[in-house]
Amino acid sequence: MPAGFQQLGGETVTGTLALSVFTAVLGSLQFGYNIGVINAPQKIIEQDYNATWVHRYEEPIPQGTLTSLWSLSVAIFSVGGMLSSFCVGFLSEWLGRRKAMLINNLLAFIGGGMMGMSKISRSFEMMILGRFVIGAYCGLASGLVPMYVGEIAPTSLRGALGTLHQLAIVTGILIAQILGLESLLGSQELWPVLLGVTVLPTVLQMALLPFCPESPRYLYIICCQEHHAKSGLRRLTGRQEVGDILTEMKEEKRRMDMERKVSIAELFRSALYRQPIIIAILLQLSQQFSGINAIFYYSTSIFQKAGVQSPIYATIGAGFVNCAFTIVSLFLVERTGRRTLHMVGLAGMCICAVVMTVALSLVPWMSYMSMVAIFGFVAFFEVGPGPIPWFFVAELFAQGPRPAAMAVAGCFNWTANFIVGMGFQYIADLCGSYVFLIFAVLLLFFLLFTFFKVPETRGKTFDQISAGFQRSASRTDMDLDLGKASTELEYLGETNLS
Ligand code: GLC
Repeated sequence: MPAGFQQLGGETVTGTLALSVFTAVLGSLQFGYNIGVINAPQKIIEQDYNATWVHRYEEPIPQGTLTSLWSLSVAIFSVGGMLSSFCVGFLSEWLGRRKAMLINNLLAFIGGGMMGMSKISRSFEMMILGRFVIGAYCGLASGLVPMYVGEIAPTSLRGALGTLHQLAIVTGILIAQILGLESLLGSQELWPVLLGVTVLPTVLQMALLPFCPESPRYLYIICCQEHHAKSGLRRLTGRQEVGDILTEMKEEKRRMDMERKVSIAELFRSALYRQPIIIAILLQLSQQFSGINAIFYYSTSIFQKAGVQSPIYATIGAGFVNCAFTIVSLFLVERTGRRTLHMVGLAGMCICAVVMTVALSLVPWMSYMSMVAIFGFVAFFEVGPGPIPWFFVAELFAQGPRPAAMAVAGCFNWTANFIVGMGFQYIADLCGSYVFLIFAVLLLFFLLFTFFKVPETRGKTFDQISAGFQRSASRTDMDLDLGKASTELEYLGETNLS
């Protein structure tokens, strides 16, 4: 067993822990890659769609049909994600976290293979189907990875290791943006390779997963395999004595055994889960309705309209800012806390959205001011709203309801992603440069919600976090009995768990 090689937050990061987190987030890397990959080569792939059409029908493709086919190629990715993210709960319980990640790789092979072969096969249908399948892969990865990482991480490093999911996503976006340059893989001949290379991290993940232990929390609390859980814990912590962690897990299991199995419907029905599930959903919505993907899907044309020269390089600049500030968040999240960082991020994005509107509409000669505002918008996103919602959901729930909660939260995230991806261009056509004011208003709402309703979870065990909600739920029940009018979330502001 590898010895611990670094002390972080008072915890030893063992080789096994580092390897397991690295292996898991290869899935997140692919998620990011497939978000970013479709932006740059749009025109070139459209030319091939046209060539296929001419080959089949001996006439050029009508512009309307081409636009529809392209929009479908982009958006069907989120539809795949929406549908599959709903299966996260069931799959992760049935197969376990590690095996579910392993099997999910099949989707990446199929999706990547279809996209890579679509040009040779002269079939845009194959490309569209490939995007759907790879979207389904990403939907599962977006739930399985944070769940696995959250469960194997020591309490004091849960936020920092959880942020690595987002760091891998943004790295994937950046790699895709760079490889998508015409001088690299974004060319007429090589775009199938650009879309197909997504299978490389898949191969690596499949090779490494057998060396990673299954989540000990899953083994012990769900499968009742104390012996296996213990040996996994020993490998992950590098200690022989893991009694303290086991005692905490025993307490969580004891509580779980007293409850019925938590279904998705139960999450909304039971007073115990209603508060955390509303928080989980709103945090996911705050991530997507912040408007971040309006930038990542359409940045090149936004920069173009703002009068920035070399808009493609400005897009890559945004990708760099995106990575840099995720690293900033990685170092701050265990010191400053999730709640504060999320609020700082939302507030900063709100201000940048207003500055962007002013720069884009009132003072059109200030193209570089709008570029700085966009970079600021991205930077603040990665301070909080980017990484935090992903791992926060896993923190809000104990072992029993966690898979169902991840499924619901993931599905809301993907649906909101789809709505922004599909709707942004129409609304931008309607509102012109004022479009970002809509996001500013939404950001303000999410900021207020976080301030009043979201508790801090830093440094708390899963059991302490859910006990906090339990207390607030029973207080709600008591007050209802006394006939006092109380809203569903009334006590959450007070249940600031820090
Ligand atoms: C988050 C979002 C994703 C977005 C990315 C940008 O991971 O879930 O939709 O594209 O951040 O960095």
